[in-house]
Amino acid sequence: MIKNQINNLKNEAIGEILEAKDGKALEEIRARFLGRAGKINELTREIPKLPKEERAPLGKLLNETKLTVEEALWQAHEKFQAGKEKKEWFDVTLPGQKPSLGHLHLITQATREIVDIFSRLGFKWVRYPEVEWDWYAFEGLNMPKNHPARDTLETYFIEELYHPKLGKGVLTPHTSSGQLREMEQTKPPIRMLNIAKCYRRQSDVSHSTMFYQFEGLVVDEKINITHLKGTLDYFFKQFFGPERQARIRPFHFRFTEPSFEVDVSCSECHGVGKQEGGEVCRVCKEGWLEIGGAGMVHPNVLRNGGIDPEKYTGYAFGWGVERVLMMKYGIGDIRLLFDNDLRFLEQF
Ligand code: DAH
Repeated sequence: MIKNQINNLKNEAIGEILEAKDGKALEEIRARFLGRAGKINELTREIPKLPKEERAPLGKLLNETKLTVEEALWQAHEKFQAGKEKKEWFDVTLPGQKPSLGHLHLITQATREIVDIFSRLGFKWVRYPEVEWDWYAFEGLNMPKNHPARDTLETYFIEELYHPKLGKGVLTPHTSSGQLREMEQTKPPIRMLNIAKCYRRQSDVSHSTMFYQFEGLVVDEKINITHLKGTLDYFFKQFFGPERQARIRPFHFRFTEPSFEVDVSCSECHGVGKQEGGEVCRVCKEGWLEIGGAGMVHPNVLRNGGIDPEKYTGYAFGWGVERVLMMKYGIGDIRLLFDNDLRFLEQF
């Protein structure tokens, strides 16, 4: 009878041990079977009450049962321990997880490159206000009030701002406003590179309401068109590649005389306009790509900047940072530059 009880107890303990989920469950089983008030001790206390000849063999059986249960507990414990170690073990030779690093925005990269190129020619990098007065943005640049050229710039005026001498406040529509500010501050020779945000009411694949321009201004004695042309050639070769060339075409701006539109030779056909087979070039159609405006500073503008146009001459140019970088990388939509989509930005 007690023999059956011992065997049942053994089976019960082993069964529970095999099903235990963790070390805590094992501890509980140990206490219940092997503890001082545990089931095995309970049976041990029965042994002295048995007939004499039964005591020794059953005592032995009980001892063996105790050892078996202890052994099973130990094995189960080892198994859990090994599992834990396996989870915590790691291979120190594996490459670590690198934190993802950002980089400068494409426009900042291009701005720095432009600054770098012009600084080699002695241009000084400056920045003038984004919120400007009419005088610097228009009137002082030889664009009188009601002049139609003002409409083409589609400016944002700021109604709350008005200066009795300098006129209305505007979000500057171009970096040319920096020309007068530079002339006011610096005596010739002037070599200025003004890079700033500009604002216009416009939005499509190649225009954005906020964009960047870079404006060059050189004023000194005997400055002429060949200096302008040489500077443009130098910039294009540095920025786009050694085989690129500049071309200037007559145009009209109020603040320059003569004025030009500047083109750069096409990367595909190099100014020819045709592919090797004779078909029209698929990139430019006519050999050249339009970059922006330039010209010899108008005498009125020099005068407005406090510089004697009889003694000094100058040239100026003003182009979109986005435009040149989109041309360089073949980006078709200006909005990509401002969308902050990492899939796009990470490519540069
Ligand atoms: N400010 C003109 C614009 O935004 C561009 C420009 C034309 C700048 C001729 C110049 C220049 O300095 O000489 O459209």
